[in-house]
Amino acid sequence: MTDLTHKPVDELTEAEADAELARLASAIAAADIAYHQNDAPEITDAEYDGLRRRNDAIEAAFPHLVREDSPSMSVGAPPAEGFAKVRHGEPMLSLAKAYTDDDVLDFIERGRRFFERDKDLEIAFTAEPKIDGLSASLRYEKGVFVQGATRGDGTVGEDITANLRTIADIPERLAGSGWPDVIEIRGEVYMSYAEFQALKARSAAAGGQDYVNPRNTAAGSLRQKDPAVTASRKLNFFAYAWGYTTADPAPTQFESVQKFAEWGFRVSPLMVRAQSAEELIAQYRLIEQQRSSLGYDIDGVVYKVDQLELQRRWGFVTGEPRWAVAHKFPAEQATTVVRSIDIQVGRTGTLAPVARLEPVTVGGVVVENVTLHNEDYIRGIDSKGEPIREGIDIRIGDTVVIQRAGDVIPQIVRVVLDKRPAEAQPYQFPHVCPVCGSAATREINEKTGKEDSRRRCTGELICPAQAIERLRHFVSRGAMDIEGLGAENIDLFFQAGLVRTAADIFTLKDRRPEVQQALAERREAQARQREAASGKVRKAVRAVEERNYEGLDKLFAAIDARRNPELDRFIFALGIRHIGETTAAVLARTFGSMEELIRVGKLTAAAADPASVFPSVDGIGGTVVGALVDFFGNERNDDVVEALLAQVTPQPYVVNVSADSLVAGKTVVFTGSLEKMTRSEAKAMAERLGAKVAGSVSAKTDILVAGPGAGSKLKAASDLGVEVLTEDQWFARIGK
Ligand code: IVH
Repeated sequence: MTDLTHKPVDELTEAEADAELARLASAIAAADIAYHQNDAPEITDAEYDGLRRRNDAIEAAFPHLVREDSPSMSVGAPPAEGFAKVRHGEPMLSLAKAYTDDDVLDFIERGRRFFERDKDLEIAFTAEPKIDGLSASLRYEKGVFVQGATRGDGTVGEDITANLRTIADIPERLAGSGWPDVIEIRGEVYMSYAEFQALKARSAAAGGQDYVNPRNTAAGSLRQKDPAVTASRKLNFFAYAWGYTTADPAPTQFESVQKFAEWGFRVSPLMVRAQSAEELIAQYRLIEQQRSSLGYDIDGVVYKVDQLELQRRWGFVTGEPRWAVAHKFPAEQATTVVRSIDIQVGRTGTLAPVARLEPVTVGGVVVENVTLHNEDYIRGIDSKGEPIREGIDIRIGDTVVIQRAGDVIPQIVRVVLDKRPAEAQPYQFPHVCPVCGSAATREINEKTGKEDSRRRCTGELICPAQAIERLRHFVSRGAMDIEGLGAENIDLFFQAGLVRTAADIFTLKDRRPEVQQALAERREAQARQREAASGKVRKAVRAVEERNYEGLDKLFAAIDARRNPELDRFIFALGIRHIGETTAAVLARTFGSMEELIRVGKLTAAAADPASVFPSVDGIGGTVVGALVDFFGNERNDDVVEALLAQVTPQPYVVNVSADSLVAGKTVVFTGSLEKMTRSEAKAMAERLGAKVAGSVSAKTDILVAGPGAGSKLKAASDLGVEVLTEDQWFARIGK
């Protein structure tokens, strides 16, 4: 798989975003444990901040992908130390799904066929709402709640007993009588809309995080390490099933759930018994009608065979009971009006259109904004040029039908043409950046020859929207690698007007009082936040504060230490589009100095036919030349680069051929997990010594440097008789 860690958020596909959120969740959790619990940080503060920011940015762009264990759920709180594992007495199953009435008829028909030989058998069913929360299993022994767990993978969940005890709907002791000696009560933990809105309001007042939806918030609340935090958020619980038990609660599903109510649980008042598909579907329609007035999210209706004896006979398939099915609701829709269309400029300069809507409630959530993706989408065509929404464009003033399915972000599904105002005009997508006024263009993809669907601001360094991200990139590890100047400080200095472009970083020292003041103000804001927070949260905020308070001298020294960067790092740090570490190294090697690169870049930008001016260089294609033309052709970048060069002097790139003639001109491949250098460092180092670095082993390969875990490349090298070195042998060879 390709490396996603540096891919801009607005270029991630949904699957990539999902994978990145998973990676970030575990990386941040590991860093939290190293920092808070082992007192042995394994990554720098800047890197840590980078991970959190990237996580937040991806969550903001893909709210429906927010994970149950999202790090953003625990912002400001010490990380959960990981809950103990609990093996369920009986697995927690999932449900087969039905989407149409026909699917329901099929389900009933399957049952009829299964029990075909029992001529007089009457199969009864129950129908009840499918609550959109988190399932939990509660173990009662002799009527006392002893342990509660999440579903986990269905077999093993997490022990969240202490948190579940804070839920008023979960009895500590069962009421009534007749309960089995041991029983695992199963049901759904959820958060009501009222509680969700109240929590959002409290959090906003205290300057805290935003919450995405009730379900994720309930999940985050349940996974708090401090039960006091869970208790402060009112959660609810409906009991609807059971797992391991020493005795059936009753002979039928319906009566069993009635028993749960007698024992002190809340059970859905909307559960009924039914005999036929028609009756089940009628109950489905009834529940659907009541959906918006229930005050909590439900996403369908669950049908179960009523007689436990028949449930047992019909049995299970791969984690699902055959005797139950979840009849899902279609996505909820609502009609509203597009008030305006705003353009937001993303961090990589992408112009992202957003429709501002007349606020409307869909599935219990007020929707005011909806993304319009890009200009083609507004015009009614997809990325392949095919019509969407029957090819109808979206205009300001249009009446539109929006849809929200479960957690999925709202979208416009249809334009109601009959209601289009006579004066409504096709939307004119801006061709200049609304933030900085530079031209906004659509690039042609070299390979496909097609226009990119996104229009981008070409303002590069002078566009404030892009400036922050670029500054972050500038100081990051692969670039200028300025220790102690993490994304958090960059943001602070940018907002305070102390750093606008990279050059300003190097004059911070001259503005010591202002820098001190900005840091002091942040500390005060954090202190206020701490006052507003309670207990554990306060402790965590203090920890963050301490991390932020870096000795200024140390920071200034770290900045000074980078005044003579390697040329390839410097070129990479400029953040020119399409110029990653590898290309930066090629440019450094080719041109030797920044002055030469600027000279050739400007000449090329001024030429009628850039390709005829720019030298043909292995590894530099039209895309890169185009990016250089854009960059050096933009006069406003000149000032930025000039100011920067007044502060820093990149080291000229000297290929050290004589001293290291052992590898000069050789083709080297790195494989396995390198332990003493990163892949990009290894590559840059080899190239600086005049070697050519290749990605795969062939007959042309001279040396394979193999770290632990090397596989197919190592095999290929030995098959081809290529020299193989360990990392240490490589260092010895190049005299390091
Ligand atoms: S019964 C043996 N009943 O849906 C069947 N599940 O897709 C066990 N859910 O993990 C589940 N409301 O979290 C059942 N009334 C209900 C439900 C329900 C919500 C959830 C539950 C389960 C998921 C299965």
